[in-house]
Amino acid sequence: MAEVGAAQEDPNAQQAAYWNEVAGPKWVQLSQAINSQIEPIGRAAMDRAGVEPGQRVLDVGCGCGHTSIDLAQRVGAEGEVHGVDLSDPMLAEARSHAVGLPQLHFTQADGQTVDLGEGAYDRIFSRFGVMFFADPEAAFRNLRRVLAPGGSMTFVCWQEIGKNPWMAVPGAAVAKLVDMQKPPTPHAPGPFAFADAERTKGILEASGFSGVEYESLETGLTIGEGMTRSELVDFSLQMGPAGAAMREADEDLRGRLRDAVAQAIFPFLTDDRLVMGSAAWVFSAR
Ligand SMILES: C[S@@+](CC[C@H](N)C(=O)[O-])C[C@H]1O[C@@H](n2cnc3c(N)ncnc32)[C@H](O)[C@@H]1O
Repeated sequence: MAEVGAAQEDPNAQQAAYWNEVAGPKWVQLSQAINSQIEPIGRAAMDRAGVEPGQRVLDVGCGCGHTSIDLAQRVGAEGEVHGVDLSDPMLAEARSHAVGLPQLHFTQADGQTVDLGEGAYDRIFSRFGVMFFADPEAAFRNLRRVLAPGGSMTFVCWQEIGKNPWMAVPGAAVAKLVDMQKPPTPHAPGPFAFADAERTKGILEASGFSGVEYESLETGLTIGEGMTRSELVDFSLQMGPAGAAMREADEDLRGRLRDAVAQAIFPFLTDDRLVMGSAAWVFSAR
C-alpha cells in the first residue's frame, strides 16, 4: 500500500503539507464545531448512499473520522469501514474517537494513488474530501478500481462560493482589508474545485464511472453552536482564506479583521444562533 511521505513525486505533496501542518491541527482543535456545522449535509448524503449492514465502505478524505464512525455504525460488526486520509493529526483524532468499533480502521494515504485492491469495497463515501486531488480524473480512476461489481460512490462537495455565505461573507469582509490569495484557476484543488457540476460529472465519466447523477442540497448551517459572539468571530476567522490572512496579520490588523467579520456575520444571528446559507452537490455514480 502506498503510504504518504516517501515518494518525492507525490502529486498531492502540497495538499499533504497543508493538511498535515496547517489545516489539520486547526481542524482537530475545532473538530466538534466543524462537524456539527456540516453534519446535516453529510447525513443527507449518507442516507442517499444506500449503506447497509455487512457492507465494506471506503471513506475518502475521512479527516477526523466523524463520518467513518457513522458509517461503521451503519454497516455493523459484520461490515468494514476504511477511512483514508492524507492528514496524520486528523487521523490521530479519528482513531481516538473510534473506540469499540472493530469494523473501523484508518490509513494515512493519498486517495489518488493508494492501492486498496480491486473490487474490495461495496461503497465509496466522502464528505468534502475529494476536491483536493491534483489530477481528479486519475484519482477517480484509482478509486473506481476498488468498487466491487454493483458498487457505488456517493460524495458531497461545495457549490460555488457565492452560494455559500457561511464562507463568502467572512471572506468578503476580510478581503476589504487584505489582499486575498486567489486560486490559480477556478478548478484548482480546494473546497470549490467541483462547483461546476457538469464539469465534475465529466471527470467522473472520463474516469470510468457510469450513472453519474447530482442533486443540489441547500441548507442553513448553524455556525459555532453554543459559542459566544466573540468566539463566533474567532471561529469564522479561522475558516478558509480568512485563516491565512489572520496567520499573517499583525496585532493591529487582527483587531480590524475581527471588527470587520463581526459586522459582517452578526446580521445573520437569530436568538444568538448564527445560521448561514450553504449549497452543496451530492454526487452519486456506479
Ligand atoms: C474538508 S476536509 C473534510 C474532512 C472530513 N471528510 C469531514 O467531513 O470532516 C478534507 C479532507 O480531505 C483530506 N484529503 C485531501 N486530499 C486528499 C487526498 N489526496 N487523499 C486523501 N485525503 C485527502 C484532507 O486531509 C482532509 O482531511
